[in-house]
Amino acid sequence: MASMLMLILVLFGATLAWFSDAQPTPVSGLSYTFYKSTCPKLESIIRNQLKKDFNTNISLAAGLLRLHFHDCFVQGCDASVLLDGSASGPGEQEAPPNLTLQQAAFKAINDLRALIDAQCGKVVSCADVVAIAARDSVALSGGPDYKVPLGRRDSLNFATQNATNANLPPPTSNVSFLITTLANLGLDTTDLVTLSGGHTIGRAHCQSFTNRLYPTQDTNMDKTFANNLKLTCPANDTANTTVNDIRTPNTFDNKYYVDLMNRQGLFTSDQGLYSDSRTKSLILTFAVNQTAFFEQFALSMVKMGQLSVLTGSQGEIRTNCSARNSGSGLWSVLEPLVETASTF
Ligand code: HEM
Repeated sequence: MASMLMLILVLFGATLAWFSDAQPTPVSGLSYTFYKSTCPKLESIIRNQLKKDFNTNISLAAGLLRLHFHDCFVQGCDASVLLDGSASGPGEQEAPPNLTLQQAAFKAINDLRALIDAQCGKVVSCADVVAIAARDSVALSGGPDYKVPLGRRDSLNFATQNATNANLPPPTSNVSFLITTLANLGLDTTDLVTLSGGHTIGRAHCQSFTNRLYPTQDTNMDKTFANNLKLTCPANDTANTTVNDIRTPNTFDNKYYVDLMNRQGLFTSDQGLYSDSRTKSLILTFAVNQTAFFEQFALSMVKMGQLSVLTGSQGEIRTNCSARNSGSGLWSVLEPLVETASTF
């Protein structure tokens, strides 16, 4: 009887743990039901539109996933990467790591906002649209589906070029540099290995990996793989692209980790993860257990998606995702006052 009771408790506990794993407690100011009354169809509007978009252009999914990453790592998930440059300087988009973000991804976010605005008015932040679109990109490519905490606000300004470059590690990075860069943002080694699994979809330009081909071939790269890459990239500065995951380039699965085990990772920053004792064991786990990868990917994405978010009366809901609202300097001062006044 006692052992039966124990079994029930273990099973019940395991079930509870699975649900709490799937839905971590959101940071203060965000919630899973943020738009329940103001835009109840928000998530279905985005999912349905992206389903149509991906039918004609599956590579957009990778573009949207990377856009969320580049937004969150620089000044937090505040849609700052969407802002055009201004008199105060060039926007984040003009910093070298962002030059290869897909223009189609920026357009897709603006198009989604137009659809959402038509149904709900301008109540949904651009940063939330980017976060949901990234999740849908993963789910619609075959990866895990997970709930996204919502309620982010959009920044009033973009980061400097220096800040942008400092927070987006280059593909030539070694593992120590990656661990330090992510630790500065509040992400750990598990997050690093897991989020790098985003390279299970999408493409890269030759310049992102020719450091491993020329002048000498990286000994940590499979020879046939390297020879084929040389055909795509006959010189350092060839403008061609190749797929990140040679096994299943458009499917979100665990094959990226199998690639690494076969020394077929594309970037120094990818392949290094398999050589380093701090990261190797997790790669082995994910390569043989896709469920473990999917569960951790959902957790690490939710964690990344809540980095330094603006909430409450901070920032604004941008009317146009590419530009700060006109007069927003004034509104950012007035809004808290109006809210305070209404509580009397
Ligand atoms: C850990 C450090 C990371 C480095 C050094 C890195 C670097 C890069 C580079 C250089 C490219 C190719 C750019 C080009 O040549 O066009 C790329 C593509 C990509 N990255 Fe990362 N990345 C990192 C982390 C991440 C994370 C955290 C995610 C998402 C969770 C991600 C998702 C992607 C995707 C989906 C693509 C393909 C984009 C496309 O096809 O347009 N990356 N990454």
